Formats: sequence, C-alpha cells, structure tokens
Amino acid sequence: MAMKFNILAIVAILAATLHCSVAQRTHIVGDSLGWLVPPGGSIAYTTWASKQTFTVGDVLIFNFPTGIHNVAQVTRTSFDACNTTSPISLTTNGPANITLTTAGEHYYICTFSSHCDLGQKLAINVSAAPSTSPPPQSATPSPVPAPSPSRTPQTYIVGDNLGWLVPPGGSLAYRTWAATKTFLVGDILVFNFTSGAHDVAVVTSKAAYDSCNTSATETPITTSPARITLTSPGEHFYVCTFPQHCSLGQKLAINVTGLAATPTPIPSPVPTPAPTRPPPSGPVPAPAPSSTRHTPPPSGSTTAPAPAPSGPTAPSPADDVSAPPAPNSAPSFSVAALPFTFLSIALAFFY
Ligand SMILES: *[C@@H]1O[C@H](CO)[C@@H](O)[C@H](O)[C@H]1NC(C)=O
Ligand SMILES: *[C@@H]1O[C@H](CO)[C@@H](O)[C@H](O)[C@H]1NC(C)=O
Ligand SMILES: *[C@@H]1O[C@H](CO)[C@@H](O)[C@H](O)[C@H]1NC(C)=O
Ligand SMILES: *[C@@H]1O[C@H](CO)[C@@H](O)[C@H](O)[C@H]1NC(C)=O
Ligand SMILES: *[C@@H]1O[C@H](CO)[C@@H](O)[C@H](O)[C@H]1NC(C)=O
Ligand SMILES: *[C@@H]1O[C@H](CO)[C@@H](O)[C@H](O)[C@H]1NC(C)=O
Repeated sequence: MAMKFNILAIVAILAATLHCSVAQRTHIVGDSLGWLVPPGGSIAYTTWASKQTFTVGDVLIFNFPTGIHNVAQVTRTSFDACNTTSPISLTTNGPANITLTTAGEHYYICTFSSHCDLGQKLAINVSAAPSTSPPPQSATPSPVPAPSPSRTPQTYIVGDNLGWLVPPGGSLAYRTWAATKTFLVGDILVFNFTSGAHDVAVVTSKAAYDSCNTSATETPITTSPARITLTSPGEHFYVCTFPQHCSLGQKLAINVTGLAATPTPIPSPVPTPAPTRPPPSGPVPAPAPSSTRHTPPPSGSTTAPAPAPSGPTAPSPADDVSAPPAPNSAPSFSVAALPFTFLSIALAFFY
C-alpha cells in the first residue's frame, strides 16, 4: 500500500517534471495591434497583459518594424516616469523575441521620443516555473496540446479592437491576429469597418489574394459590421476592394479546419460532417452535452489521475476559449505523450 503510493508519487513527479519542462508559451504582445503607440493610450497593453498568464520560460514577441520602434526593459521607476536613459536592456530589431528568464515584475517601453508617454509601455508579472499540478483555476487558459474536436461556435471580431482597416504596420497585423486563432466550420467572422470607407470581399483564389487582384472576388459586403459564417474547411481569403487597401495590408487569410464547431446538430444542408479523424476514445465527458469546454486529452497534460470533469464550471461559455498560438501546438503535442510513456515504463518496471 505505502509502496504503491510512493511509486505513484515518484511517477507523478517524474511525469510532471517532464511535462512542465516543455510548457513554454509564446505571447504576441498586443496581439494584432503589435508593438506601437496604441491609439487609445497605454490601456491597450494593460488590458492585453491582464488576459495573459506569464511564466518563466515563456517568450514575448514584440512585433514592430525595425527603425521606428524598439523595446527596452527598464526598472519600475523608469517605467513610471518613462525615463529612457540607461535601460536594463535594449532590443532594436523587430520583431523581437524576449524569453522571460526571471520571475517577478517586468517592465518594457519604447525609447523613441515620447512613445512611452503616449502609451507604448508594458508591465507584466511573471510567475516562477509552473507548479507540478494543473492550474488551480480551470478558467486559466492553458496550453492545449491538440485542438479539441468540438466546442461552441466562436464569433471573431477580425483584428479585435483594430477592426477592419488599412493596418498601420501592413498585413502583418491580420496575419498575427489569425495566427493565434483556431477557426472551425460554424465560426463567424465579424468585419467591423466604416461603411463607405472599406468593404470586405471573399477572394476566389490564393493567387488573387497574393497579388491583391480585386477583380477576382465575390460581391463585396459594403455595410458594417459584416458577419461571415465559415461554412467550409480549407483556406479562406478576404480583402478590401478599395484601391490600394489590399496591397497596403487590408487582407486576411485563414485556415478553417473541417471539424464542426459544435457537437449539437445545426441546421445545415451538408450531411453531418463526421469528424475526419476519430476523436480520442477516452475522455468523453459523461455529463450533459452542454459542456463544451476543452476536455484534456487522455494522457497529455495532466499527471495525477484527474477527477472526472465535473460538468460545466463557472466561467462563461464563449469568452475565454482562446486557442494557443499555432506555432506552439505541434511541438507541445508531440511531447505531451512523453509523460504517459514514462508512466507506463515506470509502472512496468516496478510491478
Ligand atoms: C533617468 O534615469 C537615469 C538613470 O537611472 C537617472 O540618472 C536620471 O536622473 C533619470 N532622469 C529623471 C528625469 O528621472
Ligand atoms: C521568434 O518567435 C517566432 C515564433 O515562435 C519564431 O517563428 C521566430 O523564428 C523567432 N525569431 C527569432 C529571431 O528567434
Ligand atoms: C505583480 O504581483 C504582485 C503581487 O501579486 C502585485 O503586488 C503587483 O501589483 C503585480 N504587478 C503587476 C505589474 O501586475
Ligand atoms: C466596431 O467599431 C466601432 C467604432 O470603432 C465601435 O464603436 C464598435 O464597438 C465596434 N464593434 C465591435 C463589434 O467591435
Ligand atoms: C484578375 O482576376 C481576373 C478574374 O479572375 C482575371 O481575369 C485577371 O486576369 C486577373 N488579373 C491579373 C493581373 O492577374
Ligand atoms: C493553411 O494550412 C496549410 C497546410 O498546413 C498551409 O500550407 C497554409 O499556408 C495555411 N494557410 C494559411 C492562410 O494559414
């Protein structure tokens, strides 16, 4: 009995260590906004930071064009006063990847004239290496190894607060925005723009999208907000057909996965899209089908036998289901199986 408990403890620690060592996350500072003088002042970055969880080992990506911004780590005093002399460190080339190596408060500003005063400043709180157990609050967005096979349909405001316009930094804005999202059939894109100053049209081919050939589009939607439901998997392309707008960066390309965004039947002419890949057979949540939150994969992210998902917990269903940045998901998935392997080996060894 005691023996068995010890073995389990050892295995749990081993697996946890392994898992945590790869749980690195990438945070694109400001998301689609990038790193610039934010239109509404520093609240943009305050708001952004409040929605993130930073852990030692995570990477911040500051997206900016070299030569018109930079990123300096400074003391709290310098941050508060926007004092740009003798920063702790200075990175002049954008985009800048900064790995968080220490816990505690970190302060970043742009040292270009008055940029910090105008709000180009970011304060974050970095927590020490991840705990060995799953995050205590289930509401905390955590890296999910694989896209879960189903969830409620999401409504995405294209570009978030930026809306749909000619982005200050070019098409990178919408590429960055899209890179952090997972699009499923049934999700809705909302293009929020000034009617008369912009429109949005589906582009019929990748070539036309790449070359901004606005003759090769479907009929543009001219009234904002334009809601477009994603009805088919694959690549989808959108541009503004106003002269020059596309070539200046008002263009969006997304990848829609074939899995429907809801387990409950929606009225649809298409025969119910059977999941192309069979979902993992293990963790089908027993309780009501209304629970559409992510369910952990069978072996991946947790170590101790987690209690069965006890139905929908408090958090609001739609809001906070932000998917992890795409670049991370593949590696963390492939390694996620490791703890399980080790668990099996260790158990085989001890029994
Ligand atoms: C700015 O910081 C530098 C170095 O820390 C310090 O010498 C200087 O007095 C500060 N300037 C102001 C205006 O606080
Ligand atoms: C910065 O991070 C991004 C995303 O992880 C990666 O694609 C890029 O290569 C990195 N750049 C540098 C200079 O390390
Ligand atoms: C960081 O966390 C500490 C302790 O929880 C808190 O006092 C401080 O205000 C936080 N700083 C920031 C920048 O959020
Ligand atoms: C669309 O943009 C307008 C003006 O910027 C803003 O007032 C409104 O809240 C936005 N709507 C959405 C759904 O984001
Ligand atoms: C743009 O698309 C139209 C319609 O598909 C096509 O006829 C035309 O040749 C294209 N123009 C260029 C420059 O590729
Ligand atoms: C969509 O995914 C395919 C295959 O992974 C990739 O080659 C393509 O670049 C992606 N397109 C977009 C717009 O992300």
